[in-house]
Amino acid sequence: MTQDEMKRKAAEAALEYVIADEIVGVGTGSTVNHFIDVLAEIKHKIKGAVSSSEASTERMQGYGIKVYDLNDVNGIEVYIDGADESDHYLNLIKGGGGALTREKIIAGASKKFICIADESKLVDVMGEFPLPVEVIPMARSFIARELVKIGGRPVWREGFVTDNGCDILDVHDLKIMEPVKLENQLNSLPGIVTVGIFANRPADVLILGTQEGAKTVLSK
Ligand code: A5P
Repeated sequence: MTQDEMKRKAAEAALEYVIADEIVGVGTGSTVNHFIDVLAEIKHKIKGAVSSSEASTERMQGYGIKVYDLNDVNGIEVYIDGADESDHYLNLIKGGGGALTREKIIAGASKKFICIADESKLVDVMGEFPLPVEVIPMARSFIARELVKIGGRPVWREGFVTDNGCDILDVHDLKIMEPVKLENQLNSLPGIVTVGIFANRPADVLILGTQEGAKTVLSK
């Protein structure tokens, strides 16, 4: 099975978490694109979706799935999204696609967070994947210097602007041994909009697409 086929398996398995007549939270990325494709097949069973990016909104609207503004809904039962890395406690690195801020907001507003990924995303220690950090443009150099102080090697994702009009620094060379601590530490720096560590609000369930099909992983 290719990596893409494994993503598809995870996306298909996530359908069982979708609740009839409810609004589902939908993330961003290639795995979520598979999820949107299969969600379209049962679109008449759901009320609609809240989306974490312009890209996902466009894809869902293309299928005729109603997309709601988060301000117009009373919380979300289930949020389905991908990840760039997950550890065994279901702490995540997200933001490879640059949608981390809206993703973190929707994850926070949702009762249950189901993460879908292919098996390569499960790691013992996060940090091999460069940590995305969304910053207010005027703070970019200042934050980059602060990230160097903690042992990171920030690289500006030049030419990329987030849906919120901000910049992204991808931080290489980190070994994230204490994800909650690092998330909180970085959150305290003025100018950072969102840190791509999802540890204060980790996933509740990880569905991994593997060579043997979809496997459900719960936190250790
Ligand atoms: C988007 O900003 C990210 O958080 C994605 O969830 C993450 O990059 C996973 O993407 P893929 O499903 O494309 O691997």
